[in-house]
Amino acid sequence: MAVALPMAAAAAAVVEHTFVVSQVGMTHLCQETLVTVVNGQLPGPAIEVTEGDWVAVHVINKSPYNMTIHWHGVKQRLNCWADGVPMITQCPVRPNHSFTYRFNVSRQEATLWWHAHVSCLLGCVHGAFIIRPRHGASSYPFPKPHREVPLVIGEWWQTDLGQIDKSLTNSFFGFNPSSATINGKLGDLNNCSGGLVEEGYVLEVEAGKNYLLRLINAALISEYYFKIAGHKFTVVAADANYVKPYTTDVIAIAPGETVDALLVADAAPERSNYMVALANQPSITNPPFPVTVTRGTLRYLNDGDDPAAAGDDAPPPLGPEMPGLHDMMPSFYFHGNLTSLRLAHPRGRTVPAHVDERLLVTLSMGSVCRNGGESCARGGSIDHSSVVVNGTGEQPQQLYTPLPERPPRPFNFTDRAFIPIGPTEAEAQLEPTRKATTGQRFLYGAAVEVVFQNTAVMQSDYNPMHLHGHDMFVVAQGHGDFDAARDVPARYNLVDPPVRNTVLVPSLGWAAVRFVADNPGVWYLHCHYEFHVAVGMATVFVTEDGPTVGSALPPPPADLPKCGGGHGSSLDAMENDLL
Ligand SMILES: *[C@@H]1O[C@H](CO)[C@@H](O)[C@H](O)[C@H]1NC(C)=O
Ligand SMILES: *[C@@H]1O[C@H](CO)[C@@H](O)[C@H](O)[C@H]1NC(C)=O
Ligand SMILES: *[C@@H]1O[C@H](CO)[C@@H](O)[C@H](O)[C@H]1NC(C)=O
Ligand SMILES: *[C@@H]1O[C@H](CO)[C@@H](O)[C@H](O)[C@H]1NC(C)=O
Ligand SMILES: *[C@@H]1O[C@H](CO)[C@@H](O)[C@H](O)[C@H]1NC(C)=O
Ligand SMILES: *[C@@H]1O[C@H](CO)[C@@H](O)[C@H](O)[C@H]1NC(C)=O
Ligand SMILES: *[C@@H]1O[C@H](CO)[C@@H](O)[C@H](O)[C@H]1NC(C)=O
Repeated sequence: MAVALPMAAAAAAVVEHTFVVSQVGMTHLCQETLVTVVNGQLPGPAIEVTEGDWVAVHVINKSPYNMTIHWHGVKQRLNCWADGVPMITQCPVRPNHSFTYRFNVSRQEATLWWHAHVSCLLGCVHGAFIIRPRHGASSYPFPKPHREVPLVIGEWWQTDLGQIDKSLTNSFFGFNPSSATINGKLGDLNNCSGGLVEEGYVLEVEAGKNYLLRLINAALISEYYFKIAGHKFTVVAADANYVKPYTTDVIAIAPGETVDALLVADAAPERSNYMVALANQPSITNPPFPVTVTRGTLRYLNDGDDPAAAGDDAPPPLGPEMPGLHDMMPSFYFHGNLTSLRLAHPRGRTVPAHVDERLLVTLSMGSVCRNGGESCARGGSIDHSSVVVNGTGEQPQQLYTPLPERPPRPFNFTDRAFIPIGPTEAEAQLEPTRKATTGQRFLYGAAVEVVFQNTAVMQSDYNPMHLHGHDMFVVAQGHGDFDAARDVPARYNLVDPPVRNTVLVPSLGWAAVRFVADNPGVWYLHCHYEFHVAVGMATVFVTEDGPTVGSALPPPPADLPKCGGGHGSSLDAMENDLL
């Protein structure tokens, strides 16, 4: 349900949705699985707004799980209360309770998305969040598309994702998706013993027309390479920030990222073309990680054509030539080739030339041991701290242990000797980790630089780091260990770096971001590789209030859920409200 009501005082509208979260049975690959979804759909409903609109989403939780919804990439200026992070900005919406998220969307355009921020449920509770320019499609900084097409890349898990979390605390090996999906379709590369071939996503186009593809990676664990045989893309935006047009035949999209790309239907119309989304794998694992892939079709519509009858005599579709499964360079180049379009624009921003706060943080594997080392749990860590959200029942949490400015235990971070699974003796010495509720405080207006350094002890995984409430200038990336003397300013782009809410820290490498802490509040910073955050690769950035009313965080809304019992609107009251 989407109602757009004009508001008296402004041209902006209130875009209103009701999200009923519940469990439904869905059958794929010859097996029915209980899936937690919004309004019975996977992916869930797309929210479509015009820049400047207000949004009200009534979340009615009919699932057995605690629920929060995060509006991924929406800046939530002075409004972290609507950011949807359990035990950090709100207590969760408990089963049989409801809550209405209210926020506005300003100074952002293009594609974002929304998802559950609880355990692994983002894998099935997610959808597109599309922001169109206030002055209409003619104000797009690219040719007006004939049609806009959201493409949500996801994964099909034959397991109740709400249950995985508990098992993850000890090890996240052995949990694999059964297939990749495009807009919920698994595609014909996936089948089961019943011989039933899975339906693939079909995009029908008219020859010569221009399409805006709005890609979202809503997968739990993998970056995807996306290609369409016989076609090129012109990338025009990433994470709801316009980029200078970049033409490529492959899109690399990591969990949490979005990419807007134009596609001109300029191939021979007689023949269909396959589109493929393939999860890449940074290293060869033992046991091998299954290939996760989905295939759809791009089909040309001709006048008077009945696509269903396209027929047995039609030549088989062309398939794209995909990058190698373990080849990380297409991703490194894709990310390295994006530059910002509008930094010089009157409404654009400029990259901070001077930095007030500088952090170098390692993303690593840690173990937290009990009983003098007898029982250890291995998980993700930031600077040898594995975050625990220390919910006391009161909200929001306020006490954080600061992150060290530099890694407390430096080593050759990207030494390939660490890659094989299972701790070597040298590796074991690097892993001991404390559990802590880490967080970093910034004065209002501070210019911050963070260099994220990946380490080889995580089997050379990449880490898409997502900062809530802010966009970041991604000023540099590199392979190996970051070396300020060598890399600054040689590898830095302080002129037109891409502006993103998620920075992909490359496999066996590092990435540097700058941002201005100008949004007072409490903001989660975490890896969007869901299994990494589930085991602790997260921290919190807290921006202090500024000196004026317009730069201070207002108190939370009175109806924010409470952690103890007895508060929040009960479902019955909510449903009466809606009648
Ligand atoms: C939610 O309400 C339904 C219907 O009243 C009830 O069957 C169910 O047990 C409730 N769930 C929880 C977790 O309280
Ligand atoms: C958006 O919401 C924030 C927080 O409620 C408010 O400070 C800001 O003025 C609003 N912006 C617009 C354009 O309405
Ligand atoms: C499943 O797909 C594979 C590869 O496409 C094919 O070789 C196999 O015959 C299919 N199995 C069934 C039962 O359709
Ligand atoms: C851009 O991509 C090309 C290959 O497609 C690569 O050679 C080049 O190094 C990339 N540029 C950057 C800055 O990453
Ligand atoms: C770090 O390890 C790599 C091998 O993986 C090696 O090439 C490099 O020289 C090492 N660096 C230092 C400073 O030891
Ligand atoms: C959690 O909070 C309590 C009370 O503030 C504190 O004693 C404890 O050390 C905290 N635990 C962690 C892991 O931060
Ligand atoms: C759900 O959230 C409440 C706080 O509102 C918490 O007490 C409870 O433990 C949570 N339940 C689960 C299953 O996490």
